[in-house]
Amino acid sequence: MRLNWGMIGGGEGSQIGPAHRLGAQADGLFTFAAAALDADPAKGREYAQRLGVAVDRAYGDWREMLAGERNRENRVDLVTVATPNATHFEITKAFLEAGFHVLCEKPMTMTVEEGEVIVKIAQSSGRICAVNYCYSAYPMVREMRAMVARGGLGRIRLVVANFSHGHHGDAGDADNPRVRWRYDPAMAGVSGQFADCGIHALHMASFITGDEVARLSADFASTIESRVLEDDAMVNFRTAGGTVGRLWTSSVAIGRQHGFDIQVFGETGGIRWASEQPNQVWYTPLGGRTQIMEKGEAGLSDDAARLSRVPIAHPEGFPLAVANIYVDLAAVIRGETRDGLPSAEDGLRSMAAVMAAVESAKAGGAWVDARPPMLR
Ligand code: NAI
Repeated sequence: MRLNWGMIGGGEGSQIGPAHRLGAQADGLFTFAAAALDADPAKGREYAQRLGVAVDRAYGDWREMLAGERNRENRVDLVTVATPNATHFEITKAFLEAGFHVLCEKPMTMTVEEGEVIVKIAQSSGRICAVNYCYSAYPMVREMRAMVARGGLGRIRLVVANFSHGHHGDAGDADNPRVRWRYDPAMAGVSGQFADCGIHALHMASFITGDEVARLSADFASTIESRVLEDDAMVNFRTAGGTVGRLWTSSVAIGRQHGFDIQVFGETGGIRWASEQPNQVWYTPLGGRTQIMEKGEAGLSDDAARLSRVPIAHPEGFPLAVANIYVDLAAVIRGETRDGLPSAEDGLRSMAAVMAAVESAKAGGAWVDARPPMLR
């Protein structure tokens, strides 16, 4: 039987809303049953109905949705929180406490303390709180993770990750509502670009190497001077296992569209993946030629094969990576286990890294502990 799914945020014209709706509904696992989609209640109600949500479950805001859903017999099983960052904590906390499973957008919270609260509630309630590090659900990212885990690159020496684009490079765009909140501390938190995109790259570095980010040193810049928060950051880090990490993230890199790529260098080889060509991994063994590994080819790891949906060489992209998160969520809600689903602990680790980077940047790049106190 299908599970019932509800969504908060992700209204008409939002960036991430469509990917969640496509992802959640791609496999027939969830029925889109309830929603509070927009900061404007009337717009949210109207859009939800246009998307097929029943009139009595097309809510004006999340509190109304919580009140309307909590005592329903066919209440939603899973709630996605896809609002701007400042609201994630209170919405996620309220729904977890009411016994719902939650998929929260990143960054999960605005502070480490809030992150610890969410982890504790998820642990004590047995509810799932996943965080949408959806890039980790691309089949070829899973292949890289499996390759590293089986020692295919030897000991990992170095990870280099970039997540840079140029879509906030126009200083005249300051009033664009989709851009403005990302540099407003009241809506975005203490970090702009690093918390927006950099943490995807940082999560990916940990995800592929299976190693946690232990300490870091950051340099933040607001290249558009009117911005309070950074629009460019360079972060050096070390993992607990001693891997050297380099990360560049920028939103003013005009000409880069969605420049998220990662390279992992071990003792016996190196691999590279780029989100603009997500179906390939470039693999170079020590002393050998570069080979292109392709999603859907024979011999990939079980996880990569499982999460690949269409035959080899057919394009497969972002909404299906998000769908892979929902496939695993549905399985876990039904009591199965799934390896690799990004958790509240991952959300907390990211938040600790964001706070550490802010602290380091303020201290001229001093090295600081990047781990949340609760998970040290
Ligand atoms: P956006 O500004 O494009 O859209 C935000 C939407 O949320 C709008 O429809 C707005 O009306 C609605 N909204 C705002 N406050 C609300 C409230 N209190 N209740 C209900 N709806 C509300 O923002 P975007 O880019 O879609 O980002 C939303 C979240 O998703 C952010 O936390 C962001 O970091 C994250 N995100 C994640 C991505 C990923 O790859 N995992 C990619 C893009 C965004």
